[in-house]
Amino acid sequence: SVPNTTTATKAVPALPDAQIVTQVKHYTDRLFSFRCTRPASMRFRSGEFVMIGLMGDPNPETGKVKPLLRAYSIASPNWDEELEFYSIKVPDGPLTSRLQHINVGDEIILRPKPVGTLVHDALRPGKRLWFFATGTGFAPFASLLREPQTYEDYDEMIITHTCREVGELTYGHDLIEGLKTDELLNEVIGDGFWKKIKYYPTTTREHSPKMGRITDLMRSGAAFADLGVSVLNPDTDRAMICGNLAFNIELKAMLEEYGLIEGANSNPQHYVVEKAFLD
Ligand code: A2P
Repeated sequence: SVPNTTTATKAVPALPDAQIVTQVKHYTDRLFSFRCTRPASMRFRSGEFVMIGLMGDPNPETGKVKPLLRAYSIASPNWDEELEFYSIKVPDGPLTSRLQHINVGDEIILRPKPVGTLVHDALRPGKRLWFFATGTGFAPFASLLREPQTYEDYDEMIITHTCREVGELTYGHDLIEGLKTDELLNEVIGDGFWKKIKYYPTTTREHSPKMGRITDLMRSGAAFADLGVSVLNPDTDRAMICGNLAFNIELKAMLEEYGLIEGANSNPQHYVVEKAFLD
């Protein structure tokens, strides 16, 4: 008889915590979003992140495969029956070089243990809520913007998104446009809730109506003048920051200068920060 060892070693291990991809959208050669099934028992607070990924390549010596996981903010709100993620594509990134090729029907690994600080619980009550994002840092705000509590808790929301190129603003722009016809929000909050939103997209490396880093635009006063709003004040303003590391550090220092204090789940204050995923 013919030994049949090939089939045995090639057998695909059943993925632990597997979920099925239900939608994939590519925005630019650097950005894409996807949706997948949600574990029936998984609960999370809008703004939190989970570990997701794919099986890694087999170890050349032992043949063992280990999951390759990274932290991803959940971009969908907690009431959604599916989960959505917004990702960068890094050509030589261990995970995203492969994740960018997923298709509908594929399996991904999702550890259903959500955590994070970009949650309403980490902020004290306030009047205005600022979302400051760069690149894929928009993801947790995509969740919070579809969360009814956001509109119940604040009179006004200001969303800034700084990206290199115009095409990188599409995901956020479309999401905010989509709020106008969001059935759940219209039903729960009443239509017109989206009028509370001021959206301030800027680009740094391609021409657009508003150019520059949000940090520079705030320092010069241009951002406040363009938006027709007052400078941040700890009595009224709350903020969430999510972007690349340099941005987070710079903006955090600016918010502290305005007198805002960093909060946490255990100690709600004026602002919270989280780093956007980078492969
Ligand atoms: P810039 O093009 O001037 O570097 P990335 O894709 O590299 O994560 O960057 C996303 C956006 O964040 C870019 O528009 C980038 O601007 C901007 N950015 C990078 N560092 C900072 C910072 N320290 N403060 C404000 N914006 C920043």
